[in-house]
Amino acid sequence: MHTDDKNIAASEHQSIDQSLQTTESESTRSDRSFDAIADHFEKKVYGGLKGDIRLAVLRRDIFEYTTQLSKDLGRPLRILDVGAGLAQIAIDLATQGHEVVINDISANMIDKAKANADQIDETLDIAWHICPYQELAARLTTKENQKFDLILCHALLEWLAEPAAVMDFFDQHLRSHGALSLCFYNPASFDYRNLIMGNFNLLDNTDYKADNKKSLTPNHPVAREKVECWLVAHHYQTVRASGLRVFHDYAPLKRGGHNDPDAVVRMELRYSQLEPYKWLGRYLHIMATRQS
Ligand SMILES: C[S@@+](CC[C@H](N)C(=O)[O-])C[C@H]1O[C@@H](n2cnc3c(N)ncnc32)[C@H](O)[C@@H]1O
Repeated sequence: MHTDDKNIAASEHQSIDQSLQTTESESTRSDRSFDAIADHFEKKVYGGLKGDIRLAVLRRDIFEYTTQLSKDLGRPLRILDVGAGLAQIAIDLATQGHEVVINDISANMIDKAKANADQIDETLDIAWHICPYQELAARLTTKENQKFDLILCHALLEWLAEPAAVMDFFDQHLRSHGALSLCFYNPASFDYRNLIMGNFNLLDNTDYKADNKKSLTPNHPVAREKVECWLVAHHYQTVRASGLRVFHDYAPLKRGGHNDPDAVVRMELRYSQLEPYKWLGRYLHIMATRQS
C-alpha cells in the first residue's frame, strides 16, 4: 500500500474506532478548530479537483433550492453558515442578494473567508462571528438573531465532540419550515475505499493508531443511518440527498475520462444524484426542511 493511503486509511480507521467508543470517552473530546491547519486545509481540500467537485455538487443542490424559496417568499433569504471555513457558498449566496451570517471557531479561517469576500466588487450583507457555534446565540445582534430560512452546516458534524447537539441548535435557529443543508463525511466510504485498495489489515485491525495531528480525516464521523434518525427525531423531511465524490477517490488509476477534470465534474454531478452510487460519496449532502 502507498504510504499516503496507509496514513489516510489508518487515521480514518482510528476515527471510526473512536466514534464507537463509549459516552465516557466522548466527554474528553473537544471540537476541532482549524486555526492551525487553515493553509493546509485550503490547499488540500480546495486547491484541486476534489474541491471543485464538492463545490459543484453543493452549489447545484443549494442554489436550485434557494432560488425557488426566495421566489416563493418574495424576498431575500436569511442564511446562516456554521463552521463555515472559507465560506465559498455562503459568500455566493450573499452575492445573490441574501442576508448571510458566517460563523467559525477559527479566526484564521474567517480571515481567509473575509479575504475571499473582499474580492467581490459589491456590498454584501454578511455578518461575521468568530466563536464556537455553541456561543453564537449570545453574540448575534437583535437584527441577526431572528430565525433563519436556511442553515448551512458543511463538514462540521464529524469534527464536533458532541455532534448530535448541533441538532438542538438548528431547532432553536431555523424558522418553521426552514431548510437545513447538512453535508457530512460518510464513514461507509472508508470501508469501500479500503476494500478497493486491498487494505484488509485496516478493516480487520481495529486497534491501529495513527498520528492524526495534521490529518484532514475527521475525528468523529457519523454514519448516514444515525444522521437520518436524528433528522426524523427532529421532524425534518429530506428533500434532496446527494453524494460528493462518488467515484473520484476510488479510482486507483486515473486514466480515460479521469484525464479531463471537466468531464470528471460532469460525471460526479450526474452520479451524485443516482442510486446506489450517491451513497458511496466521500461526503453526503442532505437538504431537509423542518416540518414544524
Ligand atoms: C472541515 S472544515 C469545513 C469548512 C467548510 N464548512 C467547508 O465545508 O469547507 C470544519 C470547520 O469547522 C470549524 N469548527 C470546528 N468546531 C467548531 C465549532 N464548535 N463551532 C464553529 N466552527 C467550528 C473548524 O474551524 C473548520 O473551519
